[in-house]
Amino acid sequence: MLVKKLILENFRNYEDETFAFADGLNILTGKNAQGKTNCAEAVFYLCTGSSLRIKHDRQLIRRGCDHARIYAELESKFGAVTLAAVIYETRRELYVNGNRTPRSVDFIGNMTSVFFSPGELRLIQDGPEERRRFLNLSISQTSREYAAALVRYRRILEQRNNLLKERDLSLVLETVSAWDEQLALYAARITKKRQEYLARLSSLASKAHSYLTDGQETLTVAGEREYAGGEEEIAAAIKKELAASLERDLRLGFTTVGPHRDDLKVSIDGADARGFCSQGQARTAALALKLAEVEIFTSLSGEPPVLILDDVLSELDLPRRKKLLSRVGGIQCILTCTHAERVLVGAASKKIRIHGGKIV
Ligand SMILES: Nc1ncnc2c1ncn2[C@@H]1O[C@H](COP(=O)(O)OP(=O)(O)O)[C@@H](O)[C@H]1O
Ligand SMILES: [Mg+2]
Repeated sequence: MLVKKLILENFRNYEDETFAFADGLNILTGKNAQGKTNCAEAVFYLCTGSSLRIKHDRQLIRRGCDHARIYAELESKFGAVTLAAVIYETRRELYVNGNRTPRSVDFIGNMTSVFFSPGELRLIQDGPEERRRFLNLSISQTSREYAAALVRYRRILEQRNNLLKERDLSLVLETVSAWDEQLALYAARITKKRQEYLARLSSLASKAHSYLTDGQETLTVAGEREYAGGEEEIAAAIKKELAASLERDLRLGFTTVGPHRDDLKVSIDGADARGFCSQGQARTAALALKLAEVEIFTSLSGEPPVLILDDVLSELDLPRRKKLLSRVGGIQCILTCTHAERVLVGAASKKIRIHGGKIV
């Protein structure tokens, strides 16, 4: 998968700019706050229909404008593809090859990308929310079924949560099991997919980590809980959990069990990485997860994703930098940095200088 061309119109600090990307390494350079990450963010948005930096799409619209447009021309194994997102204050339009796709699940995953920035340290160090988000965005890019299940699950969850706040207890008790039935169905689909994904991720991430640390440390990634059996069995198990937690859920006013609460465990040499590992270790572990993601996307879709490395090179020591760059040779890469680091000189690359939302 290659992004050949990217056009940003009234997107963040870009008024109207066209990027022509090379097949290999593309280096976006420029001072701080000029628009390097904004460009990377636009590519990621076309892959996931979302951005890691925003709560509301409207933040993406250039101040003072009423809509933003991101357009890209890709080259995939199926031939040329165009993607476009037109973002308004409260709605958006998504297009694949010029055709409007009303459901975002039909848009997501037409292009895949792996995004790595210093913020990804939160994957290792922060609470479970970051890790769930990582899993959801990652799996959604390769499974439409997962993305669709997530949408349905969230809708039903909201309805169950509303019901839990209902004062009329007899009404709650009468209707909750019907919601639980539905909720468990999608919960099981999500859980099963996550388990399959994690099994792959774990083995690939531990290999990548071993490569990055010269075999000095061992990284493992696993779901907090493992469910046995197929979707039906998992649904039955989750339904039981929902019933068992009803009393507590009623007291708290929200649903306390299910995939929206599940965490994954990242361990280094058997110890929970969260809380104990150093910045350097967290960085390496996060990088290993990202490299594993690249491999999973490549094997699932038959072509490599676009790798976005936002401001991470300067955070890695020289040996790791070299290892990273040699590992991703042959993959299209969009890399941002404040100055083209010396280690890059020699690597075939295209440099794009950005200043004030413009290519200079
Ligand atoms: N919606 C927006 N409208 C106009 N400018 C924006 C918008 N969102 C962000 N910016 C500007 O974009 C710049 C930051 O761009 P960014 O890509 O994060 O910088 P960097 O080059 O350091 O990666 C800031 O100057 C910010 O004010
Ligand atoms: Mg930046």
